Amino acid sequence: MLQAVCLRGLLLLLVGRQVYTEEQCLKASVNTCGDCIKSGPGCAWCKDLNFTKTGEQEAVRCDTVASLEKKGCSPTDIINPKNDFTKKSNKPLAAGNDPVQIQPQEIQLDLRPGRPYTFELKFQRAEGYPVDLYYLMDLSYSMKDDLENVKKLGNSLLSKLNVITGNARIGFGSFVDKTLLPYTDTNEAKLQRPCSDKNEPCQPAFGFQHVLSLTQDGNMFKNMVANQHISGNLDPPEGSLDAIMQAAVCVNEIGWGNSTRLLVLATDDGFHMAGDGKLAAILEPNQETCQLVQNKYSKSNLWDYPSVGQIARKLEEQNIQPIFAVTKKVETVYTELSKLIPKSAVGVLSEDSGNVVNLIVEAYNNLTSEVIMAHEALPDFISVKYKSNCKGGDKSSDRGKCDNVNIGEEVIFQVTVTVEKCITSQSFLIGPLGFSEKLKVNVTTRCECECDDKNEPSSHCGGNGKVVCGGCSCSSGFLGQRCECNLGQKDEASLKAQCRKDNGTECEGKGDCLCGRCQCHNTDSGGNFYGKFCECDDEHCEKFDNKQCAGHGQCKCGKCECDQGYEGTACHCAKSDEACKIDSSVCYNRGKCVCNQCDCERGYKGPYCKSCPTCQRPCQESGSCVECMAFGTGPFEKNCTAACKHLQLTSVEKLIKNDCRVKDKEGCWMLFTMTEQLGFDKYIVTVLKDRECPEGPNIAAIVGGSLAAVALIGLLILLIVKAVLYASDLREWKRFEKDRKHEKTSGTNPLFQNATTTVQNPTFSGD
Ligand SMILES: *[C@@H]1O[C@H](CO)[C@@H](O)[C@H](O)[C@H]1NC(C)=O
Ligand SMILES: *[C@@H]1O[C@H](CO)[C@@H](O)[C@H](O)[C@H]1NC(C)=O
Ligand SMILES: *[C@@H]1O[C@H](CO)[C@@H](O)[C@H](O)[C@H]1NC(C)=O
Ligand SMILES: *[C@@H]1O[C@H](CO)[C@@H](O)[C@H](O)[C@H]1NC(C)=O
Ligand SMILES: *[C@@H]1O[C@H](CO)[C@@H](O)[C@H](O)[C@H]1NC(C)=O
Ligand SMILES: *[C@@H]1O[C@H](CO)[C@@H](O)[C@H](O)[C@H]1NC(C)=O
Repeated sequence: MLQAVCLRGLLLLLVGRQVYTEEQCLKASVNTCGDCIKSGPGCAWCKDLNFTKTGEQEAVRCDTVASLEKKGCSPTDIINPKNDFTKKSNKPLAAGNDPVQIQPQEIQLDLRPGRPYTFELKFQRAEGYPVDLYYLMDLSYSMKDDLENVKKLGNSLLSKLNVITGNARIGFGSFVDKTLLPYTDTNEAKLQRPCSDKNEPCQPAFGFQHVLSLTQDGNMFKNMVANQHISGNLDPPEGSLDAIMQAAVCVNEIGWGNSTRLLVLATDDGFHMAGDGKLAAILEPNQETCQLVQNKYSKSNLWDYPSVGQIARKLEEQNIQPIFAVTKKVETVYTELSKLIPKSAVGVLSEDSGNVVNLIVEAYNNLTSEVIMAHEALPDFISVKYKSNCKGGDKSSDRGKCDNVNIGEEVIFQVTVTVEKCITSQSFLIGPLGFSEKLKVNVTTRCECECDDKNEPSSHCGGNGKVVCGGCSCSSGFLGQRCECNLGQKDEASLKAQCRKDNGTECEGKGDCLCGRCQCHNTDSGGNFYGKFCECDDEHCEKFDNKQCAGHGQCKCGKCECDQGYEGTACHCAKSDEACKIDSSVCYNRGKCVCNQCDCERGYKGPYCKSCPTCQRPCQESGSCVECMAFGTGPFEKNCTAACKHLQLTSVEKLIKNDCRVKDKEGCWMLFTMTEQLGFDKYIVTVLKDRECPEGPNIAAIVGGSLAAVALIGLLILLIVKAVLYASDLREWKRFEKDRKHEKTSGTNPLFQNATTTVQNPTFSGD
């Protein structure tokens, strides 16, 4: 089962578009039966009045047939439009004078979008089906001897064809190339007579000319062709595509009938294609219309050559099958061209075209024995696929194909049509390529429901509306599932506004606004919403430790309601201090237990306020206490017990480490460590029994020291006096020296002037 599901998923992925399954109904915003039918090929609608419970969405009526039946909808109440197929014209296959080669001829398809419909299309080649053959000949100079042969051809070709069909017609046209440089010599004389041989009858250069419309008269063919003369041009490729295009689009001029249409192109050279016209400055693309004036192609020098694509499309459109009768030299070129044109054949002409009749007959047999069933180009929401069990075509593809189909042999194609969306109507043709008989298809879609409802107010809808496919369509002024809501004075907008909290989304997007009240969506798979605006649910509360309300409370409308003994937004906090207890204290008495954690004071840190990295040991402050407690001295000698309650003392012989080193009143060093106790500022002090006291004083040294000091001071005073006197003498001497210098400079006579004067030449510049 699981495998099957996986496989289908894979298939869906591979195909890339929705695979049609009756088991699936993917609905989005469905309100009416029509919406439901449109939303998928697997969707059906239950019109049972009592199917929806009050407050339930009308959308539940839309589901697969299987689930609707499971939910108790009776099959007669299930609206599930089926594909419909009618044959509007269905004549049996027939040969003879009025042949019918495909059956049916016209159909009407009425399809559910996404549901494929397959029908049979029969085809039979009728004996004696007419053949139209238009012989299109290259008259460039190299075809000179071929023309001679073709002139003799007339009756033999016609009679050979008549053996096959009994109803053949034959026509003739010729072409060379555009009469412009570089294709043709445009010298006036050369244009008139493009042949190189002076004695040769020669016709002026031309593009394409239609010579003989399709006729059953072999002699006429002979006469008309006999009047044809060779012509000429410059470059090797010819204007063959120009000629093919005109032969294909000039349906009336050529006289194409309801027949197998063959177009023989006899040439010994390649062809010009779209774009080559630029060589002669022709920029206008080929317009694909018939432009014969007096049987000559009048736009030959104005329009570019057609593209191969244009040719292929036009030939297919006109059911014309080309036969390229070409010389060995260009066989590969035309074989490539033939690959691009469905239903075309290539045959090799002998040097003088002597084998052309056999070649045409063989190509005709090859062409008509291959049946390709195809349709017109269609918009991408319609797809048509073909399947057949004949030779050469078993797979489902965009074209049906059968090889080696004999006359009178019936082949059957399974044609599958799928429409992907609702449309009004679309017509198109399906038929075998190369045959003018087509099947006319008209497709419409079934996107509406026919529920046979009475067009009158129903009690089911409170008398305020009528039943439409099981639901209510309320009269104006009424709203609601059963039209129970009387709008009264209010309008719909203000009723809807009542369903919006703070101008927010209607019912917070979790319910429907019914008559101004929110009807919340409640599904089996989670999402039970409630509250005035459906704003509440019991699924989304704060989580702790990945548990809703930490597992210690109930989720109510987005908020946790905690069990006894718990508190906090996510009930993650126990009210008790249990989690903070250590060493029979709570947080070492240095903080409060808040939500299972110690909230420490005075810089204490750690899970239980164990330590204070920033605090310093109060060594100095404790000095007096240590002194009185350990040694009975110091300022607190009297009131030691009272002043030093916070310390507990032990004396030891030896201290492992000492935190504190404090001097007592007697100048001795006390060494001790302080170990913190529960709470603040309480310590056990461990004191080293022996203090480190300084040595006692030495009397002799003191007396000697004093005498020496007195002598030293006397000496110092003497020195200072001496220094002051010396400094003052020095100053006096300096002043005297300075005065003397001054006297000397001012000794010159201020009235004296030097006899020599110095004049500077401002223009003098050195050398
Ligand atoms: C719907 O249910 C009501 C009450 O249960 C009943 O009277 C009525 O006949 C039912 N209608 C249909 C169509 O089953
Ligand atoms: C071809 O057949 C169609 C319908 O069968 C007819 O309307 C049309 O005139 C025919 N054309 C010719 C050229 O006979
Ligand atoms: C006809 O078909 C045969 C066999 O497929 C092939 O050899 C031959 O070349 C074809 N002739 C023409 C003119 O297409
Ligand atoms: C196709 O069928 C529809 C519905 O019957 C009709 O309205 C429309 O005209 C038809 N189209 C053609 C081209 O026949
Ligand atoms: C809601 O919108 C209306 C009109 O835009 C406005 O008057 C009203 O104050 C809004 N109320 C709140 C709660 O935003
Ligand atoms: C202890 O006595 C000293 C001096 O005698 C005094 O300064 C101090 O305040 C007293 N302390 C207490 C706690 O009584």
